[in-house]
Amino acid sequence: MSPGTRRSSRNDAVAMLFVLLCYQAVVQVLSKERPPPPPQNVYVDQWEMKWTPATEERNITYTVQYCSSDTICTEWKDVPACTQISSSFCNVTLLKAEAERACVRLRVQADRRGSFSKPVNACSMNSDSCTPWFNLTTRPNSLTVHLSKDHRLAEKHAARAKHRVYFGKEGDTPEGHMTTSSCSFDNLKGGQRYCVSVEYVYDDNPVGMPSCIQCEVIPSSRDAKTPVIIVVVMVFSVIVIVASAYIYLFKRKKIKEWLQPPYEMPDMLLDPLPERHIFVLPTGNNEENYDVLSSITLNRSN
Ligand SMILES: *[C@@H]1O[C@H](CO)[C@@H](O)[C@H](O)[C@H]1NC(C)=O
Repeated sequence: MSPGTRRSSRNDAVAMLFVLLCYQAVVQVLSKERPPPPPQNVYVDQWEMKWTPATEERNITYTVQYCSSDTICTEWKDVPACTQISSSFCNVTLLKAEAERACVRLRVQADRRGSFSKPVNACSMNSDSCTPWFNLTTRPNSLTVHLSKDHRLAEKHAARAKHRVYFGKEGDTPEGHMTTSSCSFDNLKGGQRYCVSVEYVYDDNPVGMPSCIQCEVIPSSRDAKTPVIIVVVMVFSVIVIVASAYIYLFKRKKIKEWLQPPYEMPDMLLDPLPERHIFVLPTGNNEENYDVLSSITLNRSN
């Protein structure tokens, strides 16, 4: 092996090592920098918080945090029993006492070896003094959100407390609408699913947890017209059937008369009979003899 070849192979080895080191560094940086996807469908039902992991990865843990405030949420604290857990649920009953004093909000974030996902706020399945109650009704191309007026927040803060209604097509980012009473959304697309959630707002700041999303399919106005068309067609059919029966049973003769083509007597029959058709009684030169009737007696039995 010549010294030149040895040097070149050593250079190759160095280059390869350099590439490997670079690769490892990039992988390390990437795995450290890349936060896990945030959990989905985060909700609280009777102080049991649940979520859906966005990834099947094993090394993901979750941390639940809470904030208790009737105004601006300034500090998020970890829920003691729910930090870096691998399950997708946690019992948050110990916050019940906290919730007696002020409205509690909850959120959860995923964590992969110290790299945290964006936190996701929980909605509440139960309406209470901190989560508004609402109900949805639909009409053709329209949806109404019915809200309850008597809530603790309104008593406490009078006119400064409002509802924020989040409304949008299913799958789209919903838009927030401030309102103090029930509200309607019109000119909606028939057949489309629209979703709503509602939260209490105090001076533009959300208070407590929003209610979980409810969705409804909007009926289209064509669907609403269909029964009207069916009724009209049915009424029309009944009228036609009744009229036909009446005509058939009672007016058959008249109809026949109407339907008859105008009848004209042939001219020949209307003309006075011509002279030659008058029968001439036989006279004397006839061979037969006739008795001349002098009188006719009608002999009736009764
Ligand atoms: C949550 O914990 C409380 C007490 O800490 C317990 O009474 C309750 O049954 C638990 N709930 C569930 C769903 O496990």
